[in-house]
Amino acid sequence: MLENRLILAIETSCDETAAAVYSPLKGILSNELFSQVKIHEKYGGVVPEMASRSHIEKINLIVQQALTKANVSLDDISAIAVTNKPGLPGSLLVGVCFAKALALAKNIPIMGINHLEGHAFSSFLDGQPPFPHLCITASGGHTSLYVIYSFGDYQVIGQTLDDAAGEAFDKIAKVLGLEYPGGPLIEKLAQQVNFEDFYSYPRGATSGLDFSFSGLKTAIIYDLARRELYDLKTRKLSDAMTAQEQARVASSLLVCMRDIFIKKISLARQQYPNIKALSFVGGVACNKFLKKALNEYCQQNKLSFFSPAPQFCTDNAAMIALVGNYKFQQGHIDTLMLDIF
Ligand code: KG4
Ligand code: ZN
Repeated sequence: MLENRLILAIETSCDETAAAVYSPLKGILSNELFSQVKIHEKYGGVVPEMASRSHIEKINLIVQQALTKANVSLDDISAIAVTNKPGLPGSLLVGVCFAKALALAKNIPIMGINHLEGHAFSSFLDGQPPFPHLCITASGGHTSLYVIYSFGDYQVIGQTLDDAAGEAFDKIAKVLGLEYPGGPLIEKLAQQVNFEDFYSYPRGATSGLDFSFSGLKTAIIYDLARRELYDLKTRKLSDAMTAQEQARVASSLLVCMRDIFIKKISLARQQYPNIKALSFVGGVACNKFLKKALNEYCQQNKLSFFSPAPQFCTDNAAMIALVGNYKFQQGHIDTLMLDIF
């Protein structure tokens, strides 16, 4: 029965242990998360073995917290949705094994959910984008362009051929001597110089709807080396590098990213003229500058614009619960043989 249905979702695909409870009538009842950022920041990226160990330590606590905040018990749960792909194998296994144990113990259905589908539909957590719409998913692991026709019916029309957009921010931040994750720090620095474009970095290595960001990092390194701010041999910044210069690079990078996104969205609209809206999701969609720029683009082009609140942009279990709910409705239930990938 729709009135009583409650979905418990579990997400452990990378470095966030997350759980949420969702009611089709009332929406998200709880959305709990433990972030491992502090564990991984000194290594400049996620260490898979440490990520799995931390998930094991935290998963029971986070699931209990999600149930308590939602004011329900495990006995009230109708079905469990768990991310089973893509992601770090060891991390995914923790969530999937935990979910299977709960499903077996309580004799309730389990559904394996694609993490990317979670991001692609996350704008429905606090909005109602009309179909069909274009969705740009930009995170640390993925950058894709989708046409979304309805729940569960979507087409990937472009994706990155190398680095993801968030990965590009993280890698370039590392070159600039900034901590992980680099995206938020790049935004902060760019703001100090009013988001101006100082260096006109290259806007596009690909002509179609696919993305390519690895050349951008190389272009930035070579530009810094040419201006004697970076030593190509030692792979280190030179003493001549200043905080002001860091901000100029960060700002030029952000403006470049905006232009790349807008270029691909414009091209996609030419190929799919019946598009009614744009949704911008994934960790990179926390970026206020990019959000504002894409919103303005939509206003100029008579499209509605949707981008979820920051807690729904970065990895979370609420988006997994939302997809779990429509999978349940469509009868897409898995068995206890559910595996990762
Ligand atoms: O979705 P997410 O939490 O995890 C993945 O599925 O990868 O995204 C994390 C990514 C990181 O690369 C981080 O640098 C980027 O999102 N990010 C940002 C901002 N906040 C997070 N990138 C640009 N600007 C931000 N404000
Ligand atoms: Zn993600």
